[in-house]
Amino acid sequence: MVETIQWTDAGVVMIDQTRLPHEEHYVTCRTYQEVAETIRSMVIRGAPAIGVAAAMGIALGVAQAVDHGAANGLDEQFEKICNTLAHTRPTAVNLFWAIERMKRVYRDARALGPIALRDRLIAEARQIRLEDIAINEAIGRYGAPLVPDGKTVLTHCNAGALATAGFGTALGVIRAAVSQGKKIDVFADETRPFLQGARLTVWELQQDAIPTTLITDNMAGYFLRGGRIGCVVVGADRIAANGDVANKIGTYSLAVLAKENDVPFFVAAPISTLDLTLASGDQIPIEQRASSEVTHVFGVSVAPEGTTVENPAFDVTPHRYVTAIITERGVARPPYLVSLRRLADQGSVAR
Ligand code: MRU
Repeated sequence: MVETIQWTDAGVVMIDQTRLPHEEHYVTCRTYQEVAETIRSMVIRGAPAIGVAAAMGIALGVAQAVDHGAANGLDEQFEKICNTLAHTRPTAVNLFWAIERMKRVYRDARALGPIALRDRLIAEARQIRLEDIAINEAIGRYGAPLVPDGKTVLTHCNAGALATAGFGTALGVIRAAVSQGKKIDVFADETRPFLQGARLTVWELQQDAIPTTLITDNMAGYFLRGGRIGCVVVGADRIAANGDVANKIGTYSLAVLAKENDVPFFVAAPISTLDLTLASGDQIPIEQRASSEVTHVFGVSVAPEGTTVENPAFDVTPHRYVTAIITERGVARPPYLVSLRRLADQGSVAR
């Protein structure tokens, strides 16, 4: 399976997702500022992968400071590192979850001295990466039975190995269903404007020889009405306490179309994607990205000069359209206010 992100002696190494599928190029970040830039520019993207990158960025930043003898003023430096990483992308709550987890380790290990503190933070960042893979495998185990045999699964964006430390959430469910012997194929929405579906999901599923058909986003309704789609499975960037789901722009339209056509709509996400501090999805911050992502495709302009553009990167799907939310601790069903709280309170170890 593709290695999305790794901690190495040379720095944080990640596959450059802006160059896929044509180039398999790896970048090495040697500073926390470089990690922040890879998140901002979407060299690495996908909620859980962003969380892992932030944790590794913090470990890298502290290692830089300690290795340069900057033990004095380390607390201020640590705050600066965390702030820089927190201001990269606003919607995926996994980013803030990972930063909080690293802050707890910092506080607990602060008294041990700079070297031990650095080593604890590096160990924690590596642990978050490993846990994420195990969590996705557990999501796959819970989700696979929900996937109808002999049907097509429709997915949006890329919620695969590339969007996580490995295996994927939505694509993890598909991988697990295939490995249980289910005969399924996948329809991947191309996912304008950034084309995560066309560029990343198709590439990733091709590596596993899972039959995949690329469609443009506006074809989804046609196929959902045609009876061929057995279910829709997507990932999530943030899930509010009532079960409203923020995910890649276009997810909401897909969910409405799925309900209209009686097709189950599943969301696969780790517990770290829950934000139970928010009562509803209306409070989820939606990232607005550059207009050039809409006016240009691979650097080529597709709109007249001076075109007015809106480019929200995510939308919110109200919980009434969500059939179930698949987590590493089990499957939540409506009413989500109760089922999500119950799963969140179960403890912090993924099984
Ligand atoms: O803008 P992106 O590519 O980071 O958006 C990614 C998504 O919307 C994914 O569906 C979500 O992060 C879940 S990834 C397991």
